Amino acid sequence: MNEASEPLTDSLGRVHTSLRISVTDRCNIRCYYCMPADGIQFLPRKQLLSFEEIERFVRIVAPMGITKLRLTGGEPLVRCELPTLVRLLARTPGIEEIALTTNGLLLAEQAGDLRRAGLDRINVSLDTLDADKFKRITRRPGLEKVLAGIAEAQRVGFDSIRLNAIAIRGETEPEIVPLLEFALAHQLHLRFIEYMPLDGDGAWKSDQVLSGERIREIVEEHFGPLEPAPRDDASQPAVDYVFGDRSGLIGFIHPVSQPFCGQCDRLRLTAEGQIRNCLFSIEESDVRDLLRSNADDDPIAKLVRDCVAAKKPGHGIDDPRFLRPAKAMYQIGG
Ligand code: 5AD
Ligand code: SF4
Repeated sequence: MNEASEPLTDSLGRVHTSLRISVTDRCNIRCYYCMPADGIQFLPRKQLLSFEEIERFVRIVAPMGITKLRLTGGEPLVRCELPTLVRLLARTPGIEEIALTTNGLLLAEQAGDLRRAGLDRINVSLDTLDADKFKRITRRPGLEKVLAGIAEAQRVGFDSIRLNAIAIRGETEPEIVPLLEFALAHQLHLRFIEYMPLDGDGAWKSDQVLSGERIREIVEEHFGPLEPAPRDDASQPAVDYVFGDRSGLIGFIHPVSQPFCGQCDRLRLTAEGQIRNCLFSIEESDVRDLLRSNADDDPIAKLVRDCVAAKKPGHGIDDPRFLRPAKAMYQIGG
């Protein structure tokens, strides 16, 4: 088989077209559902893949059918000169879309440069519009900066910005209507993501997951019936609805209550150069070592292919034998 140009298909026939690249495990806030409050050992700088190493990896996987990239962290905008990486990736043959998931704190400063570098889409994490609650969830102040970041991103031409809110029982319910009103007023697409067992404190309990079903009830009480939105991309994990005179779009990502593993088309590259075939993988494959030992492209392509081939059918969160990965969200990349 030609390692270089066959599509990346796993044993269940899932074709992989999307790569999530974590560019750092560092973050400028400390959301409790992701990071521990303190005592974090961040990766030493030299263990992170350089931009050139990331670019080379993408050049190897693009001919295997990877067309979509998403930059994540930690918080990707704390990595110095991120627009430089975007520029390198945007000119890589075969790459059709580059997206970014950010907490928004540094977005006002960087949105223009990111746009000019060729970034296509932005997701901003936003769980509340209440500054005190923001501070409690993220253990840092900064809501105003996030809102300024969203406004600046829109001003420089990013449209269809998505807001991601983590759905946690007892936490998220009062935020639903204000977040939706904000999204409607600013033409943002809000999505609720069920809380997953990837928090840095290892405190996740299944009864803390606020299901999409419960959120839909709350939304319908306030805005009237939701209608399913047409699906434009079957591999998108979000299930979308239109509401509020059809001008609003709300999405639900139910990794816990309705896993979408059957449609998964994603591969992940961690900041330290390990490839993972799932958020919940227990094992990783070390691509950094190959990149740094002057390996040819072929063994790197083979490592990726073997990693995809070994992908499990699903994460099994609801299986009593489920084992959490040793890494938390900020160490994997959301
Ligand atoms: N469960 C679900 N989503 C999470 N994120 C971080 N931790 C978790 C978790 N435990 C989200 C962030 C961000 C994306 C990178 O992942 O809010 O939107
Ligand atoms: Fe930082 Fe994102 Fe984790 Fe929050 S969820 S601590 S913003 S990496």
